[in-house]
Order: sequence, then C-alpha cells, then structure tokens
Amino acid sequence: MKQIEWLNGTLRLLDQRKLPLSMEYIDCDDYMLVYDAIKTLAVRGAPLIGVSAAMGICVAARQAVKGGFDVQKYTADAEKKLRSARPTAVNLMWALDRMLPFIAAYSGDNDAYIASLDKEAFAIWEEDIELCRKMGEFGLDVVPQNANIITHCNTGSLATAGDGTALAVIRHAHRAGRNIHVYADETRPLLQGARLTAWELDQDGIPFTLMCDNMSSHLMKTHKIDLIVTGADRIAANGDSANKIGTYGLAVSAAYHKVPFYIAAPYSTIDMSIKSGDEIIIEQRNPEEVRSLGGVRTAPEGCDAFNPAFDVTPNSLIKGIITDRGIIRPPFDINLRKLLG
Ligand code: MRU
Repeated sequence: MKQIEWLNGTLRLLDQRKLPLSMEYIDCDDYMLVYDAIKTLAVRGAPLIGVSAAMGICVAARQAVKGGFDVQKYTADAEKKLRSARPTAVNLMWALDRMLPFIAAYSGDNDAYIASLDKEAFAIWEEDIELCRKMGEFGLDVVPQNANIITHCNTGSLATAGDGTALAVIRHAHRAGRNIHVYADETRPLLQGARLTAWELDQDGIPFTLMCDNMSSHLMKTHKIDLIVTGADRIAANGDSANKIGTYGLAVSAAYHKVPFYIAAPYSTIDMSIKSGDEIIIEQRNPEEVRSLGGVRTAPEGCDAFNPAFDVTPNSLIKGIITDRGIIRPPFDINLRKLLG
C-alpha cells in the first residue's frame, strides 16, 4: 500500500475516504487537488498532511512553469492556499514554513527552483519516515509484555509517510514480540478507527478488537487495560495536546481507571509558539458528518449538530509524550523546552 507517491511531477494520494471498501487514488497535477484532498480528508493525519502540502508546492511550481505564469507568485499563492486547508495540525504549517525560504529564493532559473523545492519536500518526506521509526523504538519502553492497548483515530501509515506515530509504537511492540492486543475506537463521526486503523492492524496481523467510542470506559472498568496511546495534531509548549475528538474523554477516563495515557508525536507536532492548549484552533466541521453515517442520514434532516474535529487533552492527564528524541515526561514545559532547545 502506498499512501503517497511521486510519479514524475504528479503527486498520487491514496483516497482514504474510500477505505476500506476500495483503493482509489487521486493524481494531483494541480495544487488545488492537493488542497481539496487535505480539506476533504482524502489525505489526513498530521504528518501526512504536512508531507502532502510540501509536495503540493512542487506540483504548483511545475504548473506555473508549464502555464507560463509568474512562477514565484504562483507558488507563493499556492503556499498560502495549502496552509489554509486545515487549521489544527501544526505539521501543515511546519512543513510549509520549511518550503518558504526556497520560494523566497527564486532567482529566475526555473529548473534550479524546481530542483530546490523538490529537494526540501523530499527531505521532509524522508525525515518523517525516520521520525516514525524512532517513535516506534522509543515507545517500546512503555509497552509491557501481553499489554492490552487502547488507541483512537488513525495514527498509522495512513497518517504519516512511515509506520505512524501511536501505531508505530504498536507496530514496533508487536514486531518485538510483546504479544499485544489492541482495542481500536471506531472514531465517530468519520470512522478513522474503524475504516483505517482496523484495516492497518488487520493487514499487519496485529490482534485487535474494534469498539465504538462510547465503550472505552466500560472496557477499562471490566478488563485489564495496560496502556492508552494516541497521536497528536498539535502540542503546546506546556504539553497540552490536541488530537482527534474523543481523545480528551479517553484521557479523563484513563485517569479515573489508573491506566497510563501516552501521546506519540514527532517534534514537528510540537508548537513552542503557543503556551497552552487554549491557543489551539479547533477545526469545526460540517454538522452533516454527525447527522449521517457513511453518507446515510441517521438524524432528523438539518437538526442542530456539534462537530469539533479535535479536542485538547490537558498536560495533567498525560503520563508521557513519546517523541522521535525520546519519551518526554512532566514537567512538560521544562522538558519540551530542553528537547527543542
Ligand atoms: O482529522 P484527521 O483524520 O486528520 O485526524 C487525525 C488525528 O487526529 C491523528 O490522531 C493525528 O493526526 C495524529 S497521528 C498522525
């Protein structure tokens, strides 16, 4: 399975909205197709959004040259548009921030310009694969033998360029013979857990049980759960972490049931420019996603519906953050500052 591929100037993205029923691809030879793919969650997951957006700049530069447009202005406009696709995952801004100096350095030599953009975008892509690998390795420390693990949303190869964030920890523990069992939340309203995580776990032969989001507290009360590990879309300087809606509730219940709750995220998800989670913008999505399931209406037409895509888990509920540079423990404000210099 290739979630993202570069085909000689065209960015091919696996259309995750169609999974697990069919494998369809979107061939992006226009950066607006990349923008739409991010906005509509055809491609999603914080690190993969960042990698896709960086590659979207490479697509835009080629469009500009081919169309005879003002190359630098066209790519600069594309950068602004791609940046606006989704507000919460900071990896999008992080990746585009890395592309900005190369856009600014345009000298009039189109070949050199495209080569410099490609170089940086591929560096972001390859780096993400390596960050996933390292999170997987460091995460092994928190996974006991025979662990029962709850996870939420999708944090695997469909959310990154590599093995994943929380799912990299799970994958690595499975490969290391920890004999784990995963409980995957289905993750309403868009079912990233049921459609994507269950699919990835199934493909890897990792034993798992799917459950509805409202079953996790009961599971913690009635079964031995050793660990919860989720990803994050943005981590503030004090460790408050935004992730898929439902993560906060899971962390509250984990504290009540004394289950260790960990976040796995690369350094590119940490936003030291904001002091706390209060400053994180939470994406509000179309209420129709709540009024329906898989395109079928399940509620009275047009009824009021609440649909924040993310929530913020306060640092006090997080036992540790598994990063590509090691596991960060409280006090997060001090230890994250040490990590990021
Ligand atoms: O709305 P999505 O599917 O992009 O949300 C994804 C998540 O919330 C993931 O948990 C998060 O990006 C971190 S894992 C890569």
